[in-house]
Amino acid sequence: MIDIKRNILITGGAGFIGSHLVRLLVNKYPDYRIVNMDVLTYAGNLANLKDIEDKTNYEFVKCDICDFEKVQKVFLDYQIDGVIHLAAESHVDRSIKDPFSFAQTNVMGTLSLLQAAKFAWDGNFDDKLFYHVSTDEVYGSLGEDGFFTEETAYDPHSPYSASKASSDHFVRSFQDTFGLPTVISNCSNNYGSYQFPEKLIPLFINNICNNKPLPVYGKGENVRDWLYVEDHARAIDLIFHKGKVGETYNIGGFNEWKNIDLIKVMIKTVDRLLGREEGASEKLITYVTDRAGHDLRYAIDSTKLKDELGWEPSLQFEEGIEKTVKWYLENSEWLENVTSGAYQKYYEDMYK
Ligand code: NAD
Ligand code: DAU
Repeated sequence: MIDIKRNILITGGAGFIGSHLVRLLVNKYPDYRIVNMDVLTYAGNLANLKDIEDKTNYEFVKCDICDFEKVQKVFLDYQIDGVIHLAAESHVDRSIKDPFSFAQTNVMGTLSLLQAAKFAWDGNFDDKLFYHVSTDEVYGSLGEDGFFTEETAYDPHSPYSASKASSDHFVRSFQDTFGLPTVISNCSNNYGSYQFPEKLIPLFINNICNNKPLPVYGKGENVRDWLYVEDHARAIDLIFHKGKVGETYNIGGFNEWKNIDLIKVMIKTVDRLLGREEGASEKLITYVTDRAGHDLRYAIDSTKLKDELGWEPSLQFEEGIEKTVKWYLENSEWLENVTSGAYQKYYEDMYK
């Protein structure tokens, strides 16, 4: 019998970053019970957690974070004392098509969790923490120079980033109004295994493999700061345990890439690994209409996290992208499954 020291609720644990975080914490802390709350949208896939699903310190609860009564019950049933909140609608292009679902999940869902934590902990906040995982997109867009710091004013442009900014404000308001112990981190673009192939890197790897056009928005000149997802998960673990209550931490890779340059690296890597002639797939590059409200550049200054908690990215980008491309090539079944939507039918039947 293991003596359970903590009961941690992770929301969105079947998604891309969430599944890496769940895996890390379940393996690293056998004396924590990790409760993964996820409603399994198109982006949530329990196959991402196959390797740890039978661990005794892991529980999955299918639950919509907006379902306040059910969320409250989970807090009580599992005696939750820490929350790491990742569940969200996360894709900018979808937020342009359907902003309502972003306000619903990202704002109302976060509020539902905050309120449930407040009720469950009922003023006894010792050793409790509500950790909200957010994005650098809340800071808006940079010009050629400069970085986002924790002091940068919020200036979101897409419905996605507006909904995340709003959720960050709600989190701070619960800290200031009710004394709920909270911490927020704002991270740059993640890449790695198990990312749903609607986001740039897995979408393009999949398209290069299948000789499909690569839809580059605008001139491909937008800049993103890429971080390997396992480094993000490590940062979250560190901030959850060592971060100061009430603080915000920026997480980034100091690894800026213009989209078109990154796309060429992906083409080169996939072509080499598939034994194609160098640059053979460059013909797939197709410039398309730009994303509406497309932020030009994101770049995170994560000096605070380094100076205060000693975190640094562990992986060089070249190594990270090589590992990532290899993973998608070796896991074509996972990719086929999520692109065909077959797994969703399975969950509909399994969790009626
Ligand atoms: P994702 O889209 O891969 O996963 C989201 C998960 O949340 C899915 O498992 C989905 O089923 C679940 N979910 C969605 N709505 C839900 C609801 N109403 N109730 C319960 N579960 C629900 O997202 P991701 O890329 O892993 O991002 C996770 C978090 O990190 C998000 O909050 C996102 O804003 C933030 N973030 C992402 C990045 C990135 O580059 N991907 C960077 C910085 C911050
Ligand atoms: O910065 C953190 C954010 O990074 C997270 O909060 C979001 O959840 C995550 O989706 C990501 O947002 P982006 O919009 O930066 O990621 P995406 O992969 O959608 O796009 C990366 C860049 O590539 C962006 O400039 C748009 C461009 N792009 C994207 C797609 C899907 C294309 O040119 N073509 C495409 O088909």
